[in-house]
Amino acid sequence: MRISVIGCGYLGAVHAAGLAALGHDVVGIDVDAEKVARLAAGEAPFYEPGLAGLLAAATGSLRFTTDPAAAAGCTVHFICVGTPQRPGENAADVSHVETALEMLMPCLDPGDVVVGKSTVPVGTAEALLAELQALRPGVALVWNPEFLREGHAVHDTLHPDRLVLGLAADGTADHARTVLREVYARPIAEGAPVVETDLATAQLVKAAANSFLATKISFINAMAEVCEASGGDVVRLAEAIGHDARIGHRFLGAGLGFGGGCLPKDIRGFMARAGELGADQALAFLAEVDAINLRRRVRMVDLAREECGGSIVGRRIAILGAAFKPESDDVRDSPALSVAAQMSLQGAEVVVTDPQAIDNARRRWPELKYAFTAEEAATGADLVLLLTEWREYVDLDPHELGAVVHQRRVLDGRNALDPARWRAAGWGYRALGRPATAGVS
Ligand code: UGA
Repeated sequence: MRISVIGCGYLGAVHAAGLAALGHDVVGIDVDAEKVARLAAGEAPFYEPGLAGLLAAATGSLRFTTDPAAAAGCTVHFICVGTPQRPGENAADVSHVETALEMLMPCLDPGDVVVGKSTVPVGTAEALLAELQALRPGVALVWNPEFLREGHAVHDTLHPDRLVLGLAADGTADHARTVLREVYARPIAEGAPVVETDLATAQLVKAAANSFLATKISFINAMAEVCEASGGDVVRLAEAIGHDARIGHRFLGAGLGFGGGCLPKDIRGFMARAGELGADQALAFLAEVDAINLRRRVRMVDLAREECGGSIVGRRIAILGAAFKPESDDVRDSPALSVAAQMSLQGAEVVVTDPQAIDNARRRWPELKYAFTAEEAATGADLVLLLTEWREYVDLDPHELGAVVHQRRVLDGRNALDPARWRAAGWGYRALGRPATAGVS
């Protein structure tokens, strides 16, 4: 099928390359000329494992351009643009989605299918549908939310764990269903479940899924707070409750909490939309989920201060990790960078390192110091903080790192290090939600 993908960011670039890998003829369109040039040269414009390989494999059936007219002749058009949080508000800014549809309008023919993938407040699709019906009758709209995780985006795109098709009740549903089932023929043949819904439900599914994940993380971080107050150990607690199959172990990782371009802004946007709909009470708990999450960052700084004997002023602090999670160079609302910046503002000499995110971090916080390796960052450090659990940091040799620091003290913001191993190498080890003796047998 001939497919256009509007927006080539973390979602759209992988989606375009994934569709080409699924056998389609794809054009990716973005307003950012630099991003387009890199993608056109087969280069991933951001760090995403497997994306470069997918781009290389797709030559011939995949191209990228800034020219909106390139969507003409395509029969399926995916909208993959961002919906950031509006400055100073909780609500999401859907203007890029509106602009994408406006841009597509001259290229749309009856029988075409426009597919929304962006995360939008419920009601957005209905407004876009009304516009389509007025200006391009015969063009179908489907809402097909995306559930890919950064760092696993290629796998999640090629092997989705479910496909949600939100169909409009305007007589186009049968045609749209047939087209989308052809687009996703391969994952469907592999057994990916397809859930068909109305437009409203499809938009809500995405907000609900991210809200549930955020709630699960904040739940375990709330337990961490109670553990800190009572002497309990949140890691053992999570292990124990996770054995109940109804609860499960995944997303019960206590620590510095969630960040990134999705969960924080999605729960806020969901609350804002529920408020507009008069259902604000239903989602009031998400304000607490947000607050618990942000408190972890403050607690991390407080713990660092305690470890430094009451003040971090003038102390050299090594921060391992700047990305919001491992296997990504994304620093949007990164808990690690947020802690680094707070400590720097409070007078510490902060040196940040990350395997992939230094350039993005430097653009966001140019006033911080950056180092290219953990050893360089830790040299002369009074305290080392692990804030993003990259494999190479988890595997660090505490003896080797111990040789370069000023003081062997580590704070594990992700409960990812083995306390016994670090203690055995002479380090003082503390973590969020665990007693000072955690790991001492
Ligand atoms: C999230 C969802 O997981 C995807 O399904 C969704 O498609 C995506 O948002 C989106 O809306 O586009 P992502 O933001 O890539 O994906 O990252 P996650 O893997 O969900 O992690 C989010 C944050 O939670 C990270 O900062 C991570 O460190 C943190 N986290 C995760 C924890 O603190 N504890 C955990 O146990 C798990």
